[in-house]
Amino acid sequence: MVAQVEAVGRSRRRALLQLLADGEVHSGAELAAQLGISRAAVWKTLRRAADELGLDLETQRGQGYRLHRPLELLDAARIEVALSEPARGALADIQVLEAVDSTNTRLMQAATAGAPSGSVCLAERQLAGRGRSGRGWVSPFGANIYLSILWRSPLAPAQLGGLSLACGVAAARALRDNGVVDIGLKWPNDLHWRRRKLGGLLLEVVGESQGPSHVVVGLGVNLHLSRAQAAAIDQPWADLATVLGTAMPGRNALAGALVDGLLRALMDFAAAGLDPFLEDWHRLDAYLGEPVTLHMGERRITGICAGVAADGGLVLETAEGRRTFHAGEVSLRSAPVR
Ligand code: BTN
Repeated sequence: MVAQVEAVGRSRRRALLQLLADGEVHSGAELAAQLGISRAAVWKTLRRAADELGLDLETQRGQGYRLHRPLELLDAARIEVALSEPARGALADIQVLEAVDSTNTRLMQAATAGAPSGSVCLAERQLAGRGRSGRGWVSPFGANIYLSILWRSPLAPAQLGGLSLACGVAAARALRDNGVVDIGLKWPNDLHWRRRKLGGLLLEVVGESQGPSHVVVGLGVNLHLSRAQAAAIDQPWADLATVLGTAMPGRNALAGALVDGLLRALMDFAAAGLDPFLEDWHRLDAYLGEPVTLHMGERRITGICAGVAADGGLVLETAEGRRTFHAGEVSLRSAPVR
């Protein structure tokens, strides 16, 4: 019974948000009539949604309600339509959630319960979004893209080392194809725009030492971040609204392009490893030739970025010569890692 009431509340809330999604003013009477509920119920549902989801909802006295900016809610069917034939072949299903702790956590649990390879999960918001190195990932409602893909592989986890770079290249290509000109990669797979973080990938691999394994590829891309929301981000950041302005693609089209690119990258990596991605990685390398510090726990290694090795390791020209590293956080020598 409680679950039923909650489901009705959720679908009512979604229907109201769909009606307000155009960013225009809608009167309480109009919204109430559309949903067949009272104006008081409209008010209550919207106030609650605004509080819980952090929505910027304007209540205009005597006129109605308006969202501060238009909102395109995610829709599994619209995302699937954007996929190419090969990606559709690799897809198991697409699930869109209004809220989840973390799409990665959700798919890691689903994997243990036997979910098939090619399961895709997106969320409008994450309550405990996770970034690399134990950081959180700022995940407000309806503002950005948070998606994860479960992929099963016969390979051992150790052989999947280069996969995170391949996925970084795939995401960067999708963003470039959607108009982001100055897109770059910071090792291993941060998506940068003019040295500001636009997005990132978190790959979580589980498996037997000789294989098989499964990996959850999680991707977050900032689309609209307010200063207040971004206050928790401890490095220079960017969002697509700033980068693209009015040329911003729809969220579903962009999510489709990203899922498409990642699924195809997963298939290509399964067939040929990191090799087909290396040339693009070098082209997208935002720190090539720069003096950097690699932070590995308490250790600090300084050197000049000399690209990536065939296995995906970071190559640094150090005082002791050319060395390759497989873990750590890179920062420009002048900018401390925070
Ligand atoms: C990074 O630190 O750069 C990686 C960020 C990865 C964030 C994404 S959002 C979707 C997925 N779910 C998570 O909890 N994290 C990843």
